[in-house]
Amino acid sequence: MKILLTGMTGILGSHLISSLLLHHEVYALVRNVKQRFDKFFGFGVPPDHLFEGDLEKENLGLSDSSLSILKSVDIDMVLHCASAVKFDDKYYKRTWNINKGGTERIINLSKTLNIPDLHFISTAYAPFQRNPYEISKSAAEKLVMNSGLTYNIYRLGVIVGERKSCAINGFNGFYGYAMVPYFIAKSLRQRKKISNPVKLPISVPCSSTSTINIVPVDWVVSQLLSLIGLGTFGEIYYITHPAPPLTSWVLKLIFDYMNINGINYFDCSSSLPIKKDNGTGYLQKLFDKQTRIFLPYLTQEEMFDVSSTVRRLGMEYEAPEEITEQWIHDLLDFATKQNFGRRMNTTKTTEPMAI
Ligand SMILES: NC(=O)c1ccc[n+]([C@@H]2O[C@H](COP(=O)([O-])OP(=O)(O)OC[C@H]3O[C@@H](n4cnc5c(N)ncnc54)[C@H](OP(=O)(O)O)[C@@H]3O)[C@@H](O)[C@H]2O)c1
Repeated sequence: MKILLTGMTGILGSHLISSLLLHHEVYALVRNVKQRFDKFFGFGVPPDHLFEGDLEKENLGLSDSSLSILKSVDIDMVLHCASAVKFDDKYYKRTWNINKGGTERIINLSKTLNIPDLHFISTAYAPFQRNPYEISKSAAEKLVMNSGLTYNIYRLGVIVGERKSCAINGFNGFYGYAMVPYFIAKSLRQRKKISNPVKLPISVPCSSTSTINIVPVDWVVSQLLSLIGLGTFGEIYYITHPAPPLTSWVLKLIFDYMNINGINYFDCSSSLPIKKDNGTGYLQKLFDKQTRIFLPYLTQEEMFDVSSTVRRLGMEYEAPEEITEQWIHDLLDFATKQNFGRRMNTTKTTEPMAI
């Protein structure tokens, strides 16, 4: 099949592309094609299948010649994976323009090019609409549903590294939270010239009953490819873990892995605002500021209904493996060896990335 892909350079897209190329002819819309040509070449997409395109621009910034080439190709489906993946209110306008506006432009392009099927990558958290990201993804889903095109919507859990190698091409979501204590502890160790362990006297809010839906990127890719291969049915498919671990268990593993002690985990099952009696010191403020956007994901219970995915895939459905302590450890090993994608000598708790 001929597929027009967006978001090829992102975490999911860069893991998807090699599997897609095994069975399909892929055309991709990407930003700054010329500057990033070497990287794209490494992905194995033929250079004449790459088109400069920006979701924020009118007509996606596609030139007339690109449009007529794409029209002549007879593409079978769009796989719209590109997205702004930031939770923070300060990015509201941009997030809205990329996620909702960009999806509208993708729908218009599909109609102009007579591409029948639209496969839309969304998040399992879209229905909650708790931040600009979820609100814009939910609005984009509605556009897809009302587009008049035949479609599937895929609601994904929190993407983490591959099951065996733990490899991943970027660090947001789960890693965005984990990197906060990592960089705080790294900075303390360097400044105070202390070795392990580090005492971090802070309070960490977390519901004792909620779960965190982490899913290995290679499993997500395999489930997506199987579903895409079956066609479009106007359905929503959750690609989430049917038995996710408790958030409190994962958080403790993160702090233990970082060799950080002194944490006061307090049970908190509501969303913002959270009232605390203690922890007004500098480290608490720094930690709160850096982790604020993740609070709803740590304190609210979410379970997702995978029945449509299981039913549609039938014998092809493959449940993800159980999440073990060793695997969380290995995921963190991979991320810390890469300094969470930051320059190696940095200890700054840079702005975290979302899901
Ligand atoms: N990561 C997760 O845990 C997670 C969980 C649930 C759902 N999802 C969904 O999965 C999809 C992929 O997410 P991801 O984690 O791979 O995100 P990512 O790593 O941030 O990648 C985002 C992709 O979108 C592209 N993009 C952003 N703005 C664009 C624009 N204006 N024009 C054209 N392309 C643009 C980026 O291109 P550049 O390289 O040019 O920036 C990049 O290829 C998204 O739809 C997201 O909502 C992700």
